[in-house]
Amino acid sequence: MVRFENVGMRYGRGPEVLRDISFTLDAGTFSFLTGPSGAGKSSLLKLLYLAQRPSRGLVTLLGHDVSTMTRAGLPALRRQIGIVFQDFRLLGHLSVLDNVALPLRIAGDGGPRVRDNAVELLEWVGLGEKLQARPTTLSGGEQQRVAIARAVISKPNLLLADEPTGNVDDHVGYRLVRLFEELYKTGTTVVVATHNKSLVNRFQHPRLVIENGELTDVSGVSRVS
Ligand SMILES: Nc1ncnc2c1ncn2[C@@H]1O[C@H](COP(=O)(O)OP(=O)(O)OP(=O)(O)O)[C@@H](O)[C@H]1O
Ligand SMILES: [Mg+2]
Repeated sequence: MVRFENVGMRYGRGPEVLRDISFTLDAGTFSFLTGPSGAGKSSLLKLLYLAQRPSRGLVTLLGHDVSTMTRAGLPALRRQIGIVFQDFRLLGHLSVLDNVALPLRIAGDGGPRVRDNAVELLEWVGLGEKLQARPTTLSGGEQQRVAIARAVISKPNLLLADEPTGNVDDHVGYRLVRLFEELYKTGTTVVVATHNKSLVNRFQHPRLVIENGELTDVSGVSRVS
C-alpha cells in the first residue's frame, strides 16, 4: 500500500524537514504516526496524500511510483485516498449533510443514493440528528466527525487523519480512534497522526515514531532494509 525508501523532503529551498525515511505499510493495516510537535508528522502525511513530492528517495503509493508520475496521473490516485485534516476544512455555507455528500457530487454522482449514503455515514458517526445543521454550529468533536464521514464516503483505500483528536477531550478522542478502527476492520488502510502518546498507548496498533524529521521507532511496522 505504502513504501518509502530513503525519502527526504524540503519545503522550497529550505532545509530537509524529513530525512532518510524508510518503511512499508501493508494493505489493511492500522498505524499511528506519532512524535512531538514540529517533528514532521503533517509533512509525512503531505507526501502520502500527494500535496508534496519527495526531494529524494522513493515513494510508492498504491502500486505507483510517485516521483515519476505525471501530474495527469495524480487525481486518479488522490481519489483513492481519504483525508481528515486537523482543521476540518468543512464548508460553512453548506449543511452537514451536503458537506459529507460533496466528494461524490464533485465526482459527478448526483443520484439519490448519494444522500442516503451521506445520511448513513452521519448516523454511523452519531450525527443523525444534525443533518441540516451548519458546521459552525457544531462542537469541535462533532465537526471532526463530519470531516471523518466526508473522508470515507468515497470508500478510500487509504485513510489519513492528521491530529483527528487534537480538539477533543480524551474520551472523545478514544471514540474517534474507535471509529477509524471500524473502517480498518472493513479493509481500509488507516494512518492516524497524533502527538497524544497516552491515546496511542491505549491501542495495540503499530506505530511510526518521528522525531526531528527522522523515524526513530517503527514498532510493528516493517522497516525497508
Ligand atoms: N509549509 C511549510 N513551509 C516551510 N516549512 C514548513 C511548512 N510546514 C511545516 N514546515 C516545517 O517542517 C517541520 C515539520 O513540521 P510538521 O508540520 O510536519 O510537524 P508536525 O509533526 O506535524 O507538528 P505538529 O504536531 O505541531 O502538528 C517544522 O520544522 C515546520 O516548521
Ligand atoms: Mg502536524
